[in-house]
Amino acid sequence: MRKQIAAANWKMNLNLQQAMELTDQLVNSDIHLNEAHQVLLGVPFPYLLKVKEKTDKIPGMSVCAQNIASTKNGAYTGEVSGEMLQGMNIEFAIIGHSERREYFKESNDVLASKVNLALEYGINPVFCCGESLNVRESNTQNSFVEKQLKESLFHLTANQMKNFIIAYEPIWAIGTGKTATSDQAQEMHAHIRSVISQQYGKEISDTVSILYGGSVKASNAAEIFNKPDVDGGLVGGASLVANEFDTIIKSLKK
Ligand code: PGA
Repeated sequence: MRKQIAAANWKMNLNLQQAMELTDQLVNSDIHLNEAHQVLLGVPFPYLLKVKEKTDKIPGMSVCAQNIASTKNGAYTGEVSGEMLQGMNIEFAIIGHSERREYFKESNDVLASKVNLALEYGINPVFCCGESLNVRESNTQNSFVEKQLKESLFHLTANQMKNFIIAYEPIWAIGTGKTATSDQAQEMHAHIRSVISQQYGKEISDTVSILYGGSVKASNAAEIFNKPDVDGGLVGGASLVANEFDTIIKSLKK
């Protein structure tokens, strides 16, 4: 079975004390992760090492950066490079979250550079895609998402695409409480997998973990994760509450 992943995206939330309390609650909970399960904690940069000290004790649990610079090094005040993350043994980074695309104007081209640098430094991207409400209402979401994938990912080799992690996050469902139905999620995930299959073949597309994101919570995770092409979730708001995220982790396919 390809990896089933529960990824937390804390965004710019929690002070250090709250962050450590939440981490303690998660690492001390009775979660049983099997070999196919992966839990990622997408924490703000300053917390990465401290949270990592705790997650390192739990097989299958890792920290994850929320971003990575699109250039190697140099005069880019405030940026954090792939080399820096690699030096801290950070193995995952969220790339192309819709908030980065919208507020920081990250284009598909810039995201392609970020993906390249992440891979160069041994960091697994959690690559986000997804359409706005306008696009969904004009029923062009499939071609919109396809373009995001083609322009940022399809220069990669088949070997690089193997076991890749993609998060489909319809923007109209992020932080709005409005979740896509499990059927809408399945429909888009199947589309994403078929587009990858056309480019790289079925054997590779079957290894790609496609997470759903957008108002996932304890009460809806199991139904969404049960769909055949949904391999877990990228979770914002509900990942800030230990009990909620705990239940979401337990909702991964067994
Ligand atoms: P949400 O955020 O779960 O709060 O909707 C998801 C995300 O932005 O990754």
